[in-house]
Amino acid sequence: MAKYECNHHMKQFLNELPKCEHHLHLEGTLEPNLLFPLAKRNNIKLPSNFPKTVEELNERYKQFKDLQDFLDYYYIGCNVLINEEDFFDLAWAYFTKAHQDGTWHSETFFDPQSHTERGIKIETVVNGFKRASLKAQQEYGMSTNLIMCLLRHLPSNDGLKTIDSATEFLKDGSIKALGLDSAEKPFPPELFINCYSKVKEINPDLELTAHAGEEGDSNYVITALDELKVTRIDHGVNSIQDPKLMERLASEKTMLTICPLSNVKLNVVKDVSEIPLNEFLDAQVPFSLNSDDPAYFGGYILDNYITVHTRFGWSLETWVKVAKNGVEGSWISKERKIEINNAIDETYNKFKPLV
Ligand code: HPA
Ligand code: ZN
Repeated sequence: MAKYECNHHMKQFLNELPKCEHHLHLEGTLEPNLLFPLAKRNNIKLPSNFPKTVEELNERYKQFKDLQDFLDYYYIGCNVLINEEDFFDLAWAYFTKAHQDGTWHSETFFDPQSHTERGIKIETVVNGFKRASLKAQQEYGMSTNLIMCLLRHLPSNDGLKTIDSATEFLKDGSIKALGLDSAEKPFPPELFINCYSKVKEINPDLELTAHAGEEGDSNYVITALDELKVTRIDHGVNSIQDPKLMERLASEKTMLTICPLSNVKLNVVKDVSEIPLNEFLDAQVPFSLNSDDPAYFGGYILDNYITVHTRFGWSLETWVKVAKNGVEGSWISKERKIEINNAIDETYNKFKPLV
């Protein structure tokens, strides 16, 4: 279905273009070739009907029916993560790949409940991820933020307990934001009002986001904005159903974190060309492009950028706009934004005569 060529210079441009990633589940970066060794290292018995080899598992990952079918595998994968070192190794492998793909800033989700409900301490999870984030800052010059997600298929009371156990990290900024993920339907955002207000009581500077409008319709986006007071929407592709909402997203500069390959793998769309990216651009609804769960969906951030290019054939100028929208929507300092934007301009000037 590729309509446009992504030639060598264009690929190089997309690689070197400084990118910000805002929708990446660290647990979703667990490659099959790490999952099996970790299961062995930690003596975890995988279900009897679970694929037995890396190749078989990768093959199964090509056939997800929908979000829940994927989540069933994702949570089995989570079970092999036990020690701080496991969480560190997982995140470090991701940051290394993201750096190779030209990522300058990364805001990463994690799901504490998928670990604490197995008896793992939240400190084990956060400290492993924090150490990897710090190393990415030191060795790759990346800026990073951790976003703690609550699982919406669990009761909000469980979310409150999780928030309570994370108080220290929410207060000291180790966790920058609260998010909401897992099965979207039938768990609308308003079920979690108490959790979202609770984190703001703990630290008013915390940022808020939520998955909405991936499986759920545009009303999920509206209630996330109105009831949870989020300033960003994860996925949000179904916002296109409501012109008034589109106007609101544009005027309030609410960024959608779009995940092209994920949308195809989970059958939200048949092909990346169906994602209304040009409509979002025309309506000035800001969005960034992200990999979501790259180990499960067949590609990291650069693969997503390249696939979008083969479907949309954007000019360098449009790519610069998309990259800068991602910078603007990032939870980083003004100085860091200027730094990344300058590097985007340099990349543009380098490639303008070539492409
Ligand atoms: N959607 C909802 N929940 C998730 C996802 C996703 O893409 N990845 C991990 N948890
Ligand atoms: Zn997601």
